[in-house]
Amino acid sequence: MDELVRRGHSVVVLDDLSSGKEENLAEFRNKITLIKGSITDIEVVRKAMHEAECVLHLAARTSVPRSVKDPIETNRINIDGALNVLVAARDAKVKRIVFAASSSAYGETATLPKVETMEPQPISPYGVTKYVGELYAQTFGRCYGLENVSLRYFNIFGPRQDPGSPYSGVLAKFCTAFLEETQPVIFGDGEQTRDFTYVEDAVQANLLACEAPNASGKVFNIGVGERFSLNQTVALLSKISGKSLEVKYDPPREGDIRDSQADISQAREFLGYQPKVGFEEGLRRTFEWYRAMREKPSAPAPAPPSTPVKP
Ligand code: UD1
Repeated sequence: MDELVRRGHSVVVLDDLSSGKEENLAEFRNKITLIKGSITDIEVVRKAMHEAECVLHLAARTSVPRSVKDPIETNRINIDGALNVLVAARDAKVKRIVFAASSSAYGETATLPKVETMEPQPISPYGVTKYVGELYAQTFGRCYGLENVSLRYFNIFGPRQDPGSPYSGVLAKFCTAFLEETQPVIFGDGEQTRDFTYVEDAVQANLLACEAPNASGKVFNIGVGERFSLNQTVALLSKISGKSLEVKYDPPREGDIRDSQADISQAREFLGYQPKVGFEEGLRRTFEWYRAMREKPSAPAPAPPSTPVKP
């Protein structure tokens, strides 16, 4: 959102604020239109899309274990909600929709890295809903001519993620544990790996996906192309924070995949995507942002540090 405003676009945000906070928008609050509502309400989605040229569909219930616990609710938001977004985009004659898909669609693959040509075999209800979202987007391309691009994210992290829910992303929780000196909890042996991708690179991918020619109807992995285990992540945070914490190991979560690493060749070729922030640098920026937040609890959320974007 920040980058869209910086580039002079007119931005409408539809958000039910179920996992984000309005104060995260503080810096740009008077430059955007914020509609508080859910994608499960098609009338509010239609309102948000009035005169839109491009739609970035990021709204979802994002947690794998939460989908295992309550698949009906995840389905209602991620599939019924996505369908509302697509129908409203079609009717508003939106030029292109960019859908936030997920690497969880792959499930466990026999080899790494994961390539878009591999057959999706999700192992959680969440992975199913994200895969169905892609299929729906592509089908709206075929049936109604709605241009669509799906970005399969590989563990996006960075400032502004809410660490406060049991279903929050692991790095938001670990950064907070290191700041508060509470015990980080690892589900499993900590040797599972993720291709952690800094939020700025997800922003880059979205902006490219809005305009890239020959991208419609396609699915792209958006990651860095590397992988780090949770144990390595804790070691990096020890280095960044200068603290050593004892980790608690709990049983693995249901629906959890073991390893994740993206092949990003297709995104490089068709979108011109090139990750710019490595994991350690992204983790350092994220940790510093949470630290700044703790030091100024009543002030509006500070803008996250950013890499200058070339025009
Ligand atoms: C994440 C995203 C999901 C996205 C997917 C691929 C979140 C909440 N989930 O799923 O939306 O589609 O990447 O981009 O952002 N873990 C711990 N301790 C904790 C929390 C988690 O050990 O306190 C473990 C989990 O069991 C898992 C790993 O850390 O093995 C990552 O978990 P999580 O951050 O929830 O992300 P994913 O499930 O990989």
